[in-house]
Amino acid sequence: MENTDGISLVGGDASARKMKKSRRCKHAIYNDHFQNFKRYALPKAQLVIADIPYNIGKNAYGSNPSWYVGGDNKNGQSELAGKNFFDTDVNFNINEFMHFCSNLLVKEPKETGKAPCMIVFCSHMQQFGLIDLAKKHGFKGSIPLVFYKNFSPQVLKANMRIVGNCEYAVLFYRDKLPKFNNNGKMVFNAMPWPREQVSKIHPTQKPVMLLQQLIALFTDPGEVVVDPCCGSGSTIIAAKRSGRSGYGFEIKKSFHRDAIKWLHQEGSQGSFLDVLDSAIA
Ligand SMILES: C[S@@+](CC[C@H](N)C(=O)[O-])C[C@H]1O[C@@H](n2cnc3c(N)ncnc32)[C@H](O)[C@@H]1O
Repeated sequence: MENTDGISLVGGDASARKMKKSRRCKHAIYNDHFQNFKRYALPKAQLVIADIPYNIGKNAYGSNPSWYVGGDNKNGQSELAGKNFFDTDVNFNINEFMHFCSNLLVKEPKETGKAPCMIVFCSHMQQFGLIDLAKKHGFKGSIPLVFYKNFSPQVLKANMRIVGNCEYAVLFYRDKLPKFNNNGKMVFNAMPWPREQVSKIHPTQKPVMLLQQLIALFTDPGEVVVDPCCGSGSTIIAAKRSGRSGYGFEIKKSFHRDAIKWLHQEGSQGSFLDVLDSAIA
């Protein structure tokens, strides 16, 4: 299976043996802090994908038309004006997050081409702080990733300034370059952001197609992907669609409930014969 950029959605070596392994995948989303991961005996992960809270505070919708009723300032402010994206977007403990990731990723292998990695979606401002902190937790290497949209959510005052159409992430690895299923093709660090027509569960929900591309690049079928703060569960859905195991944590009850619903819907469509192990705490 290939997407429009020619990045395989299944992974480089989609051998029958690997596909068989992928049929035994498990998927779970825990309504808990990732800090409590020891309760759940998670297997070690080949890839962590995390979209950490941006701690933007009360101006999360600052340049977005939804600040106003119907997107028009003549109508006055909407209920989103002066609000956080979500009320758990505060006091995120980034040190504990790094500790979790370095604990949960598989050990650095002796061979090249097999090392694990983590991808952290973050705000433009968070990138350098994250790179410094990650070094203290053993992640010596990093690669910046930029995802460009063909639209902008920041169109207020668009005739007065440049508007943003990018999302940022940093890929971290310890010593060896991470596993890379690129089929011998060059992969640019600026990638298109696919626009998906799905009803959103989470205000900062990531497109499943994009997450599948990342999963396919850095893991093989049957391996484990973990998302410590998984919101809508998009990463776990992407892992499932790609034949990888996926484990996520989400503290907000309403997001967790909807994420579990989505995972169950996927289960009934059953693209892979997996064991559905979704936990509701
Ligand atoms: C930026 S959102 C993730 C959105 C997700 N990538 C998606 O596509 O839906 C971050 C999420 O982390 C959750 N969160 C914050 N602190 C957490 C923690 N300590 N453990 C687990 N989840 C946490 C928040 O409730 C929020 O839903």
